[in-house]
Amino acid sequence: MNTSTGDIALLYSEIEKFSISSPDDLENFRLKFLVKKGIIPSLLSEIKNIAPENRRDYGESVNKLKTLAESKFKTAGEEIINKQSVASDTLLDLSLPGPEMPLGSIHPVTLIRNRIIEIFSHIGFTVSYGPEIEDDWHNFTALNMGENHPARDMQDTFFIQKNPDILLRTHTSNVQIRVMENQKPPIRTLSPGRTFRNEAISARAHCMFHQVEGLYIDEGVSFSDLKQTLQYFVHEMFGKEISMRLRASYFPFTEPSAEVDITCLICKSKGCNVCKHSGWVEIMGAGMVDPAVLENGKIDSEKFTGFAFGMGIERIAMLKYQINDLRLFQENDLRFLRQWVGG
Ligand code: PHE
Repeated sequence: MNTSTGDIALLYSEIEKFSISSPDDLENFRLKFLVKKGIIPSLLSEIKNIAPENRRDYGESVNKLKTLAESKFKTAGEEIINKQSVASDTLLDLSLPGPEMPLGSIHPVTLIRNRIIEIFSHIGFTVSYGPEIEDDWHNFTALNMGENHPARDMQDTFFIQKNPDILLRTHTSNVQIRVMENQKPPIRTLSPGRTFRNEAISARAHCMFHQVEGLYIDEGVSFSDLKQTLQYFVHEMFGKEISMRLRASYFPFTEPSAEVDITCLICKSKGCNVCKHSGWVEIMGAGMVDPAVLENGKIDSEKFTGFAFGMGIERIAMLKYQINDLRLFQENDLRFLRQWVGG
């Protein structure tokens, strides 16, 4: 390579003018001038080919070039780092509005459960919880369903262990017994929770669902108290224009027993598929606690009487929100759940 002082002067001004405003520019500058195979080291290694009398001048000018390039590289590098930290400082500005957080929604089962609790809390009901894994006594025997009682067949049971029987509770009535065993009347409590039955999953049945049980025990509690309480609930939950009727029914743990119907919310009693053209839909079971059940709960059945009722939360939600498939509650499909955003 035959490098003249004129060429070096040109390079000098090229380095001076080289604009470095980004990390990429900085890297290009380094690759062009400073790396081993870059212009400046190559010029330095040329020195051996320079005529001896010119070597000194040549060496001096290449060294100047080198000093210039190195100091330019250093200053430009520092400037770029400073610029970047200024940019990240702006990101840390605490007065800026935060990123938008998408709103979640409350599950319809939770919404209805909370509403039921709220309605009954206004007339003095507390909330009690009990185990989902239960023994035979609290789920069946204490509720008047002895070992071979046919009503056990109504509730296909998931057994965890046989003899002694441990099972997944088939209703929240187990909490009735546990509350009676542990508290003295007056008792006024609700027990919400999960229940399990060995049923094939379909639009109308599921192996896991939710119930709320109600229990009221005191001196002189009568069937008319039960009716009045349920009437109040129906009006609060579904509206004053909705009527209620009681149909005689049977549960082993209540006597007398009733099933509670309300006028169909969908067709307003004109007749539709939901109410099977009867104008009425069933919402729960209820009755006066059988004296034998009171005694099983260590409560004096001569002195005290009580009523109990039990409803499926999904059933109430299906009627209230006009949902036609029970499986939707378990599938966690966001298109379903998002309908309750802000609910
Ligand atoms: N435990 C009953 C069921 O699961 C409902 C019920 C509760 C009925 C209390 C009467 C009284 O079907």
